[in-house]
Amino acid sequence: MKFKQALKFPHVFQFPAANRSAIFAAMANSSEDLPKIISHAKEYGFVFQSSEIYDGLSAVYDYAQNGAELKKNLREYWWKSMVQLHENIVGIDAAIFMHPTTWKASGHVDAFNDPLVDNKDSKKRYRADVLVEDAMSKVEDKIKKEVEKAAKRFGDTFDADMYRATNPRVLEYQKKIDDTKARFKAALEASDMTELRQIIIDLEIVCPISGSRNWTEVRQFNLMFATQLGSVAEESNTIYLRPETAQGIFVNFLNVQKSGRMKIPFGIAQTGKAFRNEIVARQFIFRMREFEQMEMQFFIRPGTEDEWYETWKATRMAWHKALGFPESKYRFHDHIKLAHYAKAACDIEFEFPFGFKELEGIHSRSDFDLRQHEEHSGKKLQYFDPELNQGYVPYVIETSIGLDRLFLATLSHAYTEEKLEDGSERVVLNIPPFLAPIKVAVFPLQKDEGLPEKGREIMNMLKYDHICVYEEKDNIGKRYRRQDAIGTPFCITVDHQTLQDNTVTIRDRDTMKQERVAIAELPRIIGDRVSMNNVLRKLV
Ligand code: GAP
Repeated sequence: MKFKQALKFPHVFQFPAANRSAIFAAMANSSEDLPKIISHAKEYGFVFQSSEIYDGLSAVYDYAQNGAELKKNLREYWWKSMVQLHENIVGIDAAIFMHPTTWKASGHVDAFNDPLVDNKDSKKRYRADVLVEDAMSKVEDKIKKEVEKAAKRFGDTFDADMYRATNPRVLEYQKKIDDTKARFKAALEASDMTELRQIIIDLEIVCPISGSRNWTEVRQFNLMFATQLGSVAEESNTIYLRPETAQGIFVNFLNVQKSGRMKIPFGIAQTGKAFRNEIVARQFIFRMREFEQMEMQFFIRPGTEDEWYETWKATRMAWHKALGFPESKYRFHDHIKLAHYAKAACDIEFEFPFGFKELEGIHSRSDFDLRQHEEHSGKKLQYFDPELNQGYVPYVIETSIGLDRLFLATLSHAYTEEKLEDGSERVVLNIPPFLAPIKVAVFPLQKDEGLPEKGREIMNMLKYDHICVYEEKDNIGKRYRRQDAIGTPFCITVDHQTLQDNTVTIRDRDTMKQERVAIAELPRIIGDRVSMNNVLRKLV
């Protein structure tokens, strides 16, 4: 979805009186909701398209004033849970540019490719693997629909598993999926582009633009951005914008281990920008050319990888679930195609408005990366294990999550349209309070009679701990709605009673209920409700 197209769907809402409870709430969970979310993200200062005044740059986005705060909070949630809460994980910040041999060693120069196919009629380019995966999920949807229809027909006695195992139509669909998956896996593993094209033909996949099946050959395309170091354009000067942050960790493995006197098992974490020349860039900030990763490489004794892989799968899933989104929004997806060195790999998928898609990857990478760097650098990257009294190249379990995808997951789940009891509507972002860009809004009821001064006093008290805003324009109802739309969990109103007894009303974003509390109590009340540490404590 192009940003401009999305703006054709501006969201209009009224400003009802405060303190009404919602009688109907619709969360964003279908593909039609994505344009509304994109439009909302722009209108309320979360995400802008890069260089918009020049008509934008495809698949590159800027985070605006509220988006930058939300992103910072998400990053902090990850960093604290990884680095601060694990005595054996430390964080680094490696450079984006790395010696070019890094990417030869890691395999990115030779094999970081996407299989691309063009439709000859529309001249549109697609990722061949995505076309096949989308076609398979359409068949999966058909199965889902058959089961839903049958559930309605048979009522309480319906046994979905039995139906799936016996219904001829469902079995036929399932066979198609299984057969295609097997062929697809074999084609990817063998890098057999002819077979990949044949799968597209056999599945009768049509181009969504031209409607035709007139496909070119499938070709491999390297995703790294190359540039020149220094002023001379020679091949030997070619360097790359890093396509993943992980390699900055691998090349520093021994430096960190030695300088930090780290003992295996231990982890190195980092967050930072990564760059990929994605050809099929779509779905807003889901697939970008410049994005941010949060990765952790956990170095372990060879032979313990299966155990650690399961541990990190469980740890990462628990981290996601602590955000409080419904459990049904997450699932594991084992990789069909495993890299030759990988022992196991899976994704944590999230149900975005356009369906379940990869949010995070967990990979059991053996000793591949360190060995490759040993070979290409000629330097030993070994650990001497005092318990075993021997040296070895450690194995690695990697957890890798895209910060932008986490942002989109949060925003799309938070976006809610509510119909209130009086028939009016509001759009509210139900962002978990500890992640909300602005924690508190302070409103004097009117612009005079000493109320603004009192409001400023409250701001000055709270602003050292929380991002706060002060607003005196428009009636209180409108001010509430503006804060709802950016997900501010608490609005404080200063009224005439405040001047007499030093109390204010504090209004909760989600329930829209107001309570009167003493100003002196505000730091405790707000601090407790927006505390990231309270969420982190649940992880232990
Ligand atoms: N070091 C391993 C690695 O980079 P990956 O599966 O290619 O693995 C990890 O990427 C995560 O980075 C993905 O799960 C996704 O969240 C994020 N990611 C990858 N490509 C992206 C893109 N083009 N735009 C936004 N996020 C992306």
